[in-house]
Amino acid sequence: MDFSELIHKRKMTRSFLADPVPTATLDRVLDSARRVPSAGNTQGFDFVVLEGAETSLYWDVTLPPERREKFRWQGLLRAPVLVTIWGDADAYLHRYGQTDKAHSGLADEVDAWVTPYWIVDSGFAAMTMQLAAINEGLGVLFFGMFEHSSALAKALGVPNERTPIGTIALGWPDHADTALGRSASMERRPLEEGTNSVVHRGRW
Ligand SMILES: Cc1cc2nc3c(=O)[nH]c(=O)nc-3n(C[C@H](O)[C@H](O)[C@H](O)COP(=O)(O)O)c2cc1C
Repeated sequence: MDFSELIHKRKMTRSFLADPVPTATLDRVLDSARRVPSAGNTQGFDFVVLEGAETSLYWDVTLPPERREKFRWQGLLRAPVLVTIWGDADAYLHRYGQTDKAHSGLADEVDAWVTPYWIVDSGFAAMTMQLAAINEGLGVLFFGMFEHSSALAKALGVPNERTPIGTIALGWPDHADTALGRSASMERRPLEEGTNSVVHRGRW
């Protein structure tokens, strides 16, 4: 797919076919995601990948049966792949304590980081994973772990102190189900016209 087309057609998918994603396709998507830029080349992000029957563990933790029946996005439960993404603050503290970075004063505590780069870099990885998946013809939904992140970390064996970034559902879109998310009516902000523009040239 042409890059511009990919960007302009990109939309979240909330209903999937149950068909599996071929191993080679998923591997390409995951490999793309680890190639993002990262602060100090720290690469402090990890992906826990659940495929097929493994995905039920995720829903068992986050969506108990009584809520599952009434869940608005039944087609999301069919997603054949769920990838949870975790940031690693400690990796950045360690990296920024190394000789070439020690002058930064960022090695000692998380609170010293005006911008937590483990979240920035994990976000880059998450976005790249989504674009790589769409480039393969897959659909994706990035969604939050919300109050379930600790329980998920425990169930998935994620080491302590990792920052939950979010979950990416991946699979072939169910084009028969086109229900939109609640935020779909929010208009895209203008590039630079009016007071609500995204771009501020020269100064805000
Ligand atoms: C950080 C983040 C968290 C999101 N969390 C959810 C979520 O919990 N549930 C959901 O249905 N969509 C979630 N979304 C998807 C957004 O609702 C969606 O990207 C937005 O409405 C724009 O729609 P589009 O991506 O289809 O253009 C999330 C997106 C991001 C970037």
